[in-house]
Amino acid sequence: MSQPEVFPVPEAWAKRARIDAAGYEAALKRVEEDPEGYWREIAGRLDWIKPFTVVKDVSYNREDFRIRWFADGVLNASANCLDRHLPARANDIAFIWEGDDPADSRKITYAEAHAETCRMANVLKSHGVRKGDRVTIYLPMIPEAAFAMLACARIGAVHSVVFGGFSPDSIAGRVQDCQSTVIITADEGLRGGKIVPLKQNVDLALTQCPDVRTVLVVKRTGAKVFMKPGRDFAYDEEKAKVSADCPPEPMGAEDPLFILYTSGSTGKPKGVLHTTGGYLTWAAYTHEAVFDYRPGEIFWCTADVGWVTGHSYIVYGPLANGATSLIFEGVPNYPTTSRFWEVIDKHQVEIFYTAPTALRALMREGEEPVKKTSRKSLRLLGTVGEPINPEAWLWYHRVVGEGRCPIVDTWWQTETGAALVAPLPGATALKPGSATKPLPGVKLQLVDADGKVLEGATDGNLCITDSWPGQMRTVYGDHERFITTYFTTYPGKYFTGDGCRRDADGYYWITGRVDDVINVSGHRLGTAEIESALVAHHTVAEAAVVGYPHDIKGQGIYAYVTLTVEAKPSDELRAALIKWVRQEIGPFAAPDVIQWAPGLPKTRSGKIMRRILRKVAENDVTNLGDTTTLADPSVVEDLVKNRAGA
Ligand code: WT7
Repeated sequence: MSQPEVFPVPEAWAKRARIDAAGYEAALKRVEEDPEGYWREIAGRLDWIKPFTVVKDVSYNREDFRIRWFADGVLNASANCLDRHLPARANDIAFIWEGDDPADSRKITYAEAHAETCRMANVLKSHGVRKGDRVTIYLPMIPEAAFAMLACARIGAVHSVVFGGFSPDSIAGRVQDCQSTVIITADEGLRGGKIVPLKQNVDLALTQCPDVRTVLVVKRTGAKVFMKPGRDFAYDEEKAKVSADCPPEPMGAEDPLFILYTSGSTGKPKGVLHTTGGYLTWAAYTHEAVFDYRPGEIFWCTADVGWVTGHSYIVYGPLANGATSLIFEGVPNYPTTSRFWEVIDKHQVEIFYTAPTALRALMREGEEPVKKTSRKSLRLLGTVGEPINPEAWLWYHRVVGEGRCPIVDTWWQTETGAALVAPLPGATALKPGSATKPLPGVKLQLVDADGKVLEGATDGNLCITDSWPGQMRTVYGDHERFITTYFTTYPGKYFTGDGCRRDADGYYWITGRVDDVINVSGHRLGTAEIESALVAHHTVAEAAVVGYPHDIKGQGIYAYVTLTVEAKPSDELRAALIKWVRQEIGPFAAPDVIQWAPGLPKTRSGKIMRRILRKVAENDVTNLGDTTTLADPSVVEDLVKNRAGA
């Protein structure tokens, strides 16, 4: 293999970064020699109402399993994100909002964000929301999404943000799972010039959710929407009735902060639960360390707050650090493919954080849409969500960053709360395509299928052998599922579900999921979820879904469908099934390819052999591996012969 290009730390960065190479070495040494002291200092960046005395209390063993950080401390996340900045910088900008329409934007100071959050908190209280209650948030990318999250945190309610691209069924499943009785939504959303019927989706979802008693409807487009008397309330009317003063609720460090649903290898999404002290510590620390953030800088993370990236790097991390965080309602190619770069110029963005899939799509448009903008304000670039191919990395570095901005490729998961593997721009030489090395205190291990620990340069399954503050604490309502999903494949270790290569320099290269999860445009999807959506259609007898390499999306969705005897394959049916999945889950889950499969390859015990399906989808049919356990080898011949031209 040819040696990958290495980009050393630019001299200016080595000089001025918060953490330089010596600082990084010192942190690695410190966390080994005095872990308690190290973590205590990191958590000391927050304002504690009552300081913690116990730092860490963790066991990954089933008998005495527990994950607790700073457990006897008391704090409030919203006060950390808002109130404590007021004395010195009430008039600094907390959020810059850039609307879908380039003519729409506004700036919100910390004082205004504080008042808006308090009002939202008081509205929730006036509708009976109490500490520990779950509140579902289904909003577009407007400042109210952040206020809603912070308002829940303020009164100790647990928010569950559902991404605005999810269907009514998906909303209903999430509302029911966490038994939330209050929903905050908007009349409509606006993305890329298109309307998203948010309230209508909620109405459809609520036909399945008898316990929801209050829906607060934020005005975004002003469209007239159905309002059910006694249940639905116009948020601006409710807001006018309450004061802008709401004292923050003192919360235990281990009290839940939020639930965020994510796909796993089984059908039902998991409610990943994060708690207050550890999560906020890790979001804030990594935001400062990885992005080398300094007060006053403009930080833009292009994710949606419906995903964990938006939680940690639009709202909690930046605000805990008193940053200016940009909230973007639109999409990268509306009105033109220069939009990202125009927004950077318009608001003088210094740090820009996006997903490889967006870069690959924009790269296809050539350099001109980028080059016609200035981008002089940029000093650091970041990526997240999926492996970045070196070609896209190099384009990002050369064209967008004009060779002067380091790129931080941050590896993490909904479960990890915030980044775990990432370069520190003042300390780490970069290799395009590698998230580089674990942050101090993060203990990675590569193991083989049997759990044997692999040393040195090798390929393996990525595990983490010890806890970090931002680790998820449980699957909401199913602690057993939490332990079995993450801690039993390799007992005593957290298993990430990712495959990974470590090179001779100790750099980590994530190779993708090794379980039945696929990553489509940075959206995580369980193949089982798409399969159950397909078989819910009356024409489908059986379905198997796998990922295949896709130029833009990273992975595309390839579905093998066996029809019932009554149904006949046709292009119309194919289109109908794609539409069906869009409706059942959401547009981003629509299959790219459907291949009619008279039968699926199974073992004699009836297990679908996904390895073979992946090979066929990847068009790697000369190398199907061991097929001797197949119940009916002719099934595979048919699949290969009728492979859809993906
Ligand atoms: C999965 C987690 C991290 C927040 C957004 C996604 C993949 C994430 C990287 C990266 C290679 C990455 C992994 C991981 N992933 N970041 N920098 N390089 N792969 O969160 O939806 O929980 O998905 O995304 O496969 O397990 P998520």
